[in-house]
Amino acid sequence: MDISNIDPVTREALDHFVFPLVSKSDVLGGDPVIFKSGKGMHITDISGNSYLDMLSTNTRASSLGFANEYVAKAVYDQMMELHYAGTFAHVADVTVRLAAKIAELAPGDLTATTFGGSGSEANENSFKFAREYHVHKGDKPRARKIISRWDAYHGATMGSIGATDILGTRPISEPGVPGHRRIPAPFLYRTPFNMDPSEVCDFCVDYLEQEILHEDPSLIAAFIAEPVMQGDGAQVPPDDYFKKVRAICDKYDVLLIADEVITGFGRTGKWFAMEHWGVQADVMSTAKAISGGYVPLGASTVTQKIADVLPIFSHLQTYQGHPAACAASLATINYIEQHDLITKGAENGTYFLDKLQRLRDLPIVGDVRGLGMWTCVDFTRDKKTKQPLEEGSVKRMVRRCLEQGVLLGEEGTAIEMSPPYIASRDELDKCVDTLEKVIIAEAKEQGIK
Ligand SMILES: Cc1ncc(COP(=O)(O)O)c(C=O)c1O
Repeated sequence: MDISNIDPVTREALDHFVFPLVSKSDVLGGDPVIFKSGKGMHITDISGNSYLDMLSTNTRASSLGFANEYVAKAVYDQMMELHYAGTFAHVADVTVRLAAKIAELAPGDLTATTFGGSGSEANENSFKFAREYHVHKGDKPRARKIISRWDAYHGATMGSIGATDILGTRPISEPGVPGHRRIPAPFLYRTPFNMDPSEVCDFCVDYLEQEILHEDPSLIAAFIAEPVMQGDGAQVPPDDYFKKVRAICDKYDVLLIADEVITGFGRTGKWFAMEHWGVQADVMSTAKAISGGYVPLGASTVTQKIADVLPIFSHLQTYQGHPAACAASLATINYIEQHDLITKGAENGTYFLDKLQRLRDLPIVGDVRGLGMWTCVDFTRDKKTKQPLEEGSVKRMVRRCLEQGVLLGEEGTAIEMSPPYIASRDELDKCVDTLEKVIIAEAKEQGIK
C-alpha cells in the first residue's frame, strides 16, 4: 500500500499511537477518524470535514455535545480553587458534594458513592462492594462469584473484563480473575436458542436461578446487568425481566448490580434506566454521561444497607474522585437540570424512535428498537431467519453515513444512534433521512428485495 501521501497526523498515529481494537491496516484504510475540534452537535476531523454527531462519540459519553462552556468553566474554576487534595483521609469538598448530589438523584436508598476514573473501575468497585458486604455481613462470607450475561460489556480491567462477553477482548487475557459465570441475556429479536420472544423473560430468569443453585448460593456475591444492553444494539429487556431478577436475587441474598455506565445520567429518558421498571439495584455503576465526557469519572453507588455493614471500604486510588472530574460532573448535572434535558431526551427519544420505525419496511431491516436517546436499527438478509448481513456490510453503511456527514455507530449486527441530549428534531430527522438512503443503496447493491 502506498503511504507516501498519508497526512502527517495519521503518519504519527501509525508510528506512535496504539489504537484500541484497530489494526494498522484499518488505519491505512482510513477507518479511525482523527478529529480536531467540536462544537455543539458537530465534530470536525483533521481534514476539516464536519460531522453531525449522532452517537455522543463512539463511547456515547458526550451527552451534552461539544464545547459546553458551562462545564468547561466549572472545571477551570475548580482547578484554580483546588486541583487536587489527595485521597482516603484527604478529600476535596467538591467530591463530597457530588456524592451527595448522586444520592439525591439515584433511585431509592442508593446513597453512598465511591469514585474511580472509568466505567471499568466503577464495576471493579461494585464487585468489591459486593464481596466486602458479604464478608462483613457474615451470612455468606465466602460469596465471591459474579454472574453476568452473554453479550454483556462491563469493561476492560481484569475484574470487569471477566464479566464482559462482547468485543473479543476477554479471551486473550484469560485465564483471568476466577469466579465469573455468564448466563443468557433477554434479547427479544435474535432470542436465546431462537425461542419465541414471549418465552425469553422467564427462560432467562429461570436460568439465573438455576445458575445460582448450581454454583451454590452461598458462593454467589452478585449478578451484574446493563439495564439496556449494547451488544448488537440497544437491547431493551422484556418489561418484567428486572422485577423477576430482583426477586431471585433477594431469594438467595445475591446483590443486584446495575451497570448504568451507558444508561445512567439521562441516556434513556430518565436519570437512571432501572427507573423504567421500578426496580432498585443494590449497587449502581455509572460513568460516561456522569461528566458528559468532559473529564474521566466513574462511580459506584451502594444502598444504605450495604454502606452500614462495611466498617471501611478496602480500596483506594490516587485519583479517585478527582476534583476536576467531580466539578465537571456537578456542572453536567446542573446543566441537565437547568435545561430540563431529561424530559427533552425522553420526548425527543420517542419522536426519534417513531421516525426510525419507517425503516422497518426496507428489505434488510429486521428490527428497530431503543429507549430514550438510545436507538438502533438491526439488519438481516432474511426477515424470517434473521440471518445477519454479510460481514462488512454494517461497517460499510456506517462509513457511507459518515461520508454524508452523519456519525453513527456499528454495533455488531446493528447501527446504533445515541445522540447528545441537546439534539434538535431537525438533526434527528436528518439522521433518519441519511440512514434511509444508505440502507436502500446497500440493499440494492446486495440484491436483497
Ligand atoms: C455498560 C458498560 N460498562 C462498563 C464500561 C467500561 O467503561 P470504561 O470504558 O469507561 O472503562 C462500558 C464502556 O463502554 C460500558 O458500556
